[in-house]
Amino acid sequence: MAPFDPAHFVDDRPAEGVFRVHRDVYADPELFELEIKYIFERTWNFLTLETEIARPHDYITTWIGRTPIVVSRGGDGKIHAFLNACRHKGATVCRAEKGNAASHVCLYHGWAYDSTGANVGIRQRRAGDYPPSFDKDDHGLVRIARLDSYKGLIFGSLSPDVPPLHEHLGDLKFYIDLHMEQGPRGMEFIPGRVAYTYRGNWKMQLENGQDPYHVDTAHGSFAAVVARRRAGQGNVSALELDRSKRGQSLLGAFEFAHGHTATWQDVPEPERRVIFRSLDDVRARVGDIKAEWMIKQRNAVCFPNLQIADHIVPILRTFRPISVDVTELRSNVLAPIGEAPELRAARLRQFEDFVNPGGYATPDDVTLFGDCQTGFGSTGFDYLQGYSHGLAEAKRGPDETARAAGLEPLTSVAGLSAQNTELGTHAPLREWARLMRAGIEGRKAYE
Ligand code: FES
Repeated sequence: MAPFDPAHFVDDRPAEGVFRVHRDVYADPELFELEIKYIFERTWNFLTLETEIARPHDYITTWIGRTPIVVSRGGDGKIHAFLNACRHKGATVCRAEKGNAASHVCLYHGWAYDSTGANVGIRQRRAGDYPPSFDKDDHGLVRIARLDSYKGLIFGSLSPDVPPLHEHLGDLKFYIDLHMEQGPRGMEFIPGRVAYTYRGNWKMQLENGQDPYHVDTAHGSFAAVVARRRAGQGNVSALELDRSKRGQSLLGAFEFAHGHTATWQDVPEPERRVIFRSLDDVRARVGDIKAEWMIKQRNAVCFPNLQIADHIVPILRTFRPISVDVTELRSNVLAPIGEAPELRAARLRQFEDFVNPGGYATPDDVTLFGDCQTGFGSTGFDYLQGYSHGLAEAKRGPDETARAAGLEPLTSVAGLSAQNTELGTHAPLREWARLMRAGIEGRKAYE
């Protein structure tokens, strides 16, 4: 690999209107190793929802980069997070994706831990078996350095040197509020989830959610199906928006600090949004501005591992980097706690129709991620040019839409002409370069 130079990999020259990215950012195994170390292991990562571990001893297993993590509600009712790696020889302690257990016993030699991660048993330990130095050690599962929540979303960091969570999230909190304030009793995941791996770098899915440019072409078959359904053909009653009117509604994007980014789009048929049916109640509870924003289609990235999307129904998606060209994606559908069964069914049908691996969008995207990954292996060209559409109209700071919502993005773009803006891909890549440079130069991630 060439000596690391952020200006080499992310060629970012705002004054000249240049933003282009070297294909190695998506394809170089050595850069991938550095990403794990200097990005995933040195910033906040989304872990799970508080409602996923509502009862004492509930737990889920997840990852920060390649580090296996358990998030557990202890018998004390508090939330704990620790490495899912036995202190004896490192074996996975909690093997299930989620469950309820007051204790966890390692399968290899039988060491036992309680739901706070504390060691509660070393099998066949008798007085005099171990030297005094061993007895003095803490044998509990290793706690992660930082753990905090915002509106029911739990985040963790392996590094203690991160800003407070609320500061790290910044104005992205508005997008989280729009998801998490929809239900009067809060929000929860609808039971079940979708998980799959695709052939492609983790940033492919991250950028895809901020890339309205691909929708008409990559998902053209879905638009055709929607048009036929709306003409009365087929036997599926779905709530898809009229894709033929997509070009008539305003679309915008914001670039926030810390790599977070978001798009929004007005919808021509608000009555087709699931939230519309309870909008009066929602408006009374959260106010006009948030209620109107809940109607908009939205797609945000909480860098580096979370997508907060509501282009069909509210979902959370996590990206887990497995190797430079293999990524695991998990999607969960959010719904108000206590929601009527028919509304919950409507959410699921919408999710299945578009986002499910067997739906109309995901096979298009993952096939194209693989095609891009093939292209990244080419010789003869270095820089990708897919970041500049809409750049000419971007402005520093908040635009009118941002100001009306009380947001202070670093950059904004909006308008009918912004339909296909690629601005939303910039913030994550800029943060990628910043964190990588800090790591390689031996500096803290946040100073
Ligand atoms: Fe867990 Fe040995 S590795 S008890």
